[in-house]
Amino acid sequence: MIKERATAETAAPMSQPATHYTIPDSEDAYLSMDLLRFSTAGSVDDGKSTLIGRLLYDTKSIFEDQMEAVERASRQRGDAYVDLALLTDGLRAEREQGITIDVAYRYFATPKRKFIIADTPGHIQYTRNMVTGASTAELTIILIDARKGVLTQSKRHGFIASLLQIPHILVAVNKMDLVNYSQEVFEQIVAEYTEFASKLSMPDLTFIPMSALMGDNVVNKGDNMPWYDGPTVLHHLENVNVGVTRNVVDFRFPVQTVIRPNQDFRGFAGQVASGSIQPGEEVAVLPSGNRSTVKSVVTFGTELDEAYAGDSVILTLADEIDISRGDMIVRTRNLPQVANQLECTLCWMSEEPMNPKVSYILQHTSRQVRAYISEINYRIDVDTLHREAADTFHLNEIGRVKLTTTQPLFFDPYPLNRATGSFILIDPHSNTTVAAGMIRRRARELDEVVAQQTARQRSSNVTWDSSQISRELRERQNGHKAAVLWFTGLSGSGKSTVARALERHLYELGCHTFYLDGDNVRHGINGDLGFSEKDRKENIRRVAEVGRLAFDHGNITLCTFISPFQADREFARSLAPQGRFIEIYVKCDLDVVKRRDPKGLYAKALRGEIPDFTGVSSPYEEPVNPELVVETDVQSVEDIVSQILEYLVRQGVITNHEMDER
Ligand code: ADX
Repeated sequence: MIKERATAETAAPMSQPATHYTIPDSEDAYLSMDLLRFSTAGSVDDGKSTLIGRLLYDTKSIFEDQMEAVERASRQRGDAYVDLALLTDGLRAEREQGITIDVAYRYFATPKRKFIIADTPGHIQYTRNMVTGASTAELTIILIDARKGVLTQSKRHGFIASLLQIPHILVAVNKMDLVNYSQEVFEQIVAEYTEFASKLSMPDLTFIPMSALMGDNVVNKGDNMPWYDGPTVLHHLENVNVGVTRNVVDFRFPVQTVIRPNQDFRGFAGQVASGSIQPGEEVAVLPSGNRSTVKSVVTFGTELDEAYAGDSVILTLADEIDISRGDMIVRTRNLPQVANQLECTLCWMSEEPMNPKVSYILQHTSRQVRAYISEINYRIDVDTLHREAADTFHLNEIGRVKLTTTQPLFFDPYPLNRATGSFILIDPHSNTTVAAGMIRRRARELDEVVAQQTARQRSSNVTWDSSQISRELRERQNGHKAAVLWFTGLSGSGKSTVARALERHLYELGCHTFYLDGDNVRHGINGDLGFSEKDRKENIRRVAEVGRLAFDHGNITLCTFISPFQADREFARSLAPQGRFIEIYVKCDLDVVKRRDPKGLYAKALRGEIPDFTGVSSPYEEPVNPELVVETDVQSVEDIVSQILEYLVRQGVITNHEMDER
């Protein structure tokens, strides 16, 4: 009897039900069997389709008429054997007509266990196959062509599987018939791959030599590899330990739909992403934070005592509270994290490279928000597992990024919860999935990083209120990055002259600027400070803090202060993220500034009328490693401004485009 399974198994947001094949003896027997979800990694060339076809064929999980069609097609092509790839590819072609499917599921069963194979159209998009099918996969089959040995892509598959924390990995060394069933070839591959895998976290790694085409070691052992005494692929699939990967502790219920058939009933439908829930339990709804009690848990019209991870149910609550699609129902005492800045591992799955300048749609559980890549931390070379600098990701590349979303997500780190720790990115124009990601942690806000890095004194009993509009959002709107340009140098060296000329240019380019000047702040906020070492320190501390606030609001912040002490400048630097504090040493020979003496202060100081005058009776510590040195006694102001603007372009603070328009 061929049986179709209800869509409960396929209710994951990115999945669509496809063709289902099973051979249970009876419905009850089928339902009570345990289930293994697995994915396959490898391209058609590696024999992926043939392997799936072989599994379906040898377990007699296919319709007879389909089998006849495949046999007929193979005969027509003059093949001496039945091309099982035609089975899967044929089905696929049929399925692909008119619709795009990210991942489709094939079902089959043996008397021992039922199976769901996550399968994806496309030959090269193995990353995508693995990632989209993997949030629930408990095993993945990595196919290696015995003739080709361990390729970069085989390593990539293993790396992704380990990132996704798929508990069981089966390396199927295929096409053994084409290497004369050589034990040596197999063992060489095992040795090489084991060595690579030792650098990754792979709790269970199994190797099986096989031939999907001839059937050796897929379902039946065959006589060609007497030297191999391990299990066949099917035997292994039937016997691995399942059910260990779901998070059964943290109840997370992303609301898919609000159901309101009449005035008296209001229910919230969705799939329990993790944990379990019973009627009577107290829950909170995110993002509102409203609380209520679960009145009932319903599925197909029946009330349940408890619903578990993976169950598709309708919850009703005791109170009338406002809930919509994308909200999440959780237990009041077990809340997920909430953040709009996330550190993520990202697998890029599109032919179009990542564009950090545009925003994508981020689909996380049942929620969609806008997101963009605010920082690319590194890309990973899958051969060496080394990190490398990158400014974009291409197809199948993997690395670490920081994402900013326009609305906060409710999530758990992926290692704790695969369901609420993963997401996909969708291109809003083509509506295709371009990346899959795993949330590692909330990206710390700048102030937290700073609080840790610097021993800043804080008033007691105060907390930092992160403004709802992040710096990143402001930067996007402004069309440039925020930065702190810190001009240091002797009095009269030309700091203000240069900074003012630069600010005018930035203004004309449409940039948002904020200007803090030594003389000016000493008329107001720092009017209480003199020029002792202690007062100068306090002067710089205050202006550095004000500068940071301006920076946080997306401004290119220009600060002109003598700031004679290296330690104080270091403090100012510590308040900005790396690369965003640009120390500009405005250098000018002391004799020249003495001669210039625009305010007549050097003359006074030399006459002993001004105590602690920098360069006369108080020291100036030259910057140790400034980003820029400009020399006002050698260069023109215009040259210096150009030099600084070019630096800002190189650093990505402003774009070339802005410069071109200049
Ligand atoms: S800082 O050393 O604390 O960074 P800041 O840049 O704020 O100094 O102020 C420097 C300006 O204050 C000078 O340009 C000058 O006009 C004025 N000034 C007055 N007294 C002094 C002094 N003793 N040393 C340096 N600058 C002084």
